[in-house]
Amino acid sequence: MKKVTCTAPVNIAVIKYWGKRNEELILPINSSLSVTLHQDQLKTTTSVAASREFTEDRIWLNGKEENINHPRLQSCLREIRRLARKRRNDGGDENVSRILNYKVHLCSVNNFPTAAGLASSAAGYACLVYTLAKLYGVEGELSEIARQGSGSACRSMYGGFVQWVMGEKDDGKDSLAKQVEPESHWPELRVLILVATAEKKHVGSTAGMQTSVETSPLLKLRADLVVPERMEAMIESIRKKDFDAFGQLTMKDSNQFHATCLDTYPPIFYLNNVSQRVISMVHQYNTYYGQTKVAYSFDAGPNAVIFMLEPTVNEFVEVVKLCFPPETNGDQYLKGLPVGPSTLSEGLQSAIASDPNPGGVRYIIVTKPGPGPMQSQDLTLDLLGSDGMPLH
Ligand code: DP6
Repeated sequence: MKKVTCTAPVNIAVIKYWGKRNEELILPINSSLSVTLHQDQLKTTTSVAASREFTEDRIWLNGKEENINHPRLQSCLREIRRLARKRRNDGGDENVSRILNYKVHLCSVNNFPTAAGLASSAAGYACLVYTLAKLYGVEGELSEIARQGSGSACRSMYGGFVQWVMGEKDDGKDSLAKQVEPESHWPELRVLILVATAEKKHVGSTAGMQTSVETSPLLKLRADLVVPERMEAMIESIRKKDFDAFGQLTMKDSNQFHATCLDTYPPIFYLNNVSQRVISMVHQYNTYYGQTKVAYSFDAGPNAVIFMLEPTVNEFVEVVKLCFPPETNGDQYLKGLPVGPSTLSEGLQSAIASDPNPGGVRYIIVTKPGPGPMQSQDLTLDLLGSDGMPLH
């Protein structure tokens, strides 16, 4: 039996991907750009085992066996095996040849609660593809395969600041992720995830963006005219570490994405009253200081992702506590990187209009940009036992 365990990160887009031009290959209607989050706080771990003893390919996700015949899983498995075969035929390793005839067992877990509604498909597919690539000794460009699992997954194949270049070709060969800057580029950048208390399940991204492509004229305008120009400005703001520009572009792009959701017919709402309160809180804070010190971004759900520079973290966490007083709900309110104490000035307190919403934010995860997928040498992280079955 050959076994490999790897981990992969979550990413959060600051120029959003929303809309496909090819559903099967997952080709987008615009390029997008994201920040890879640190795996110390958010990651997927995947173990794969290949053995002569296995009679079929199988997969377990967060402790539950899932259907391996899911088309997107099959695309990833097929494409990785195709690459592995190609390398073997080009004079590769005998061992690879042997395990290519074996079935695989895959087991994957997240170190963050799925219930939190944090997008896990990006880290999940990135980890699946990376782990299979290590198993078969495949190297090089893998974002094209991760993309076929979930569009946003291609960006989780790199650390730091990552662009998914939409490409033009019909076969998707040029629709790839590339690193714009590594995670070490902007060491002061911090990311807070405000996990909102959500009432109900919302429309998934895949279905949501499909309806948007079919019905929203604003989405077409955005993809054709707004994103190309905004992408240039975003890359420049990152290269120059210009937080003011980065923050404003991030908020505007999140807002425009949610505007295209409202322009979709029937409309899609991902932001709830907690998200709206977070948006006004951020603008009140920035107005008080007369500069963009914090910036929000929301994906297909109500949780807020807030960017800021390190010196702002302690104070901003107090601001969040003022608006959303912590409620004992069994969760620890602050998770991740340490946060120090801070006292809010009277001026700031009155600038953040009152009307507190107790428990509206369940907890905050404090994190920062981080590295891409990696192979784990730590055997204690193995998710599959010596019999190739899940350990937990
Ligand atoms: C709002 O990558 O989840 O998070 O390609 O259909 O799997 P599929 O969709 P997915 O969409 C992510 C949408 C988003 C914005 C983004 O991450 O760019």
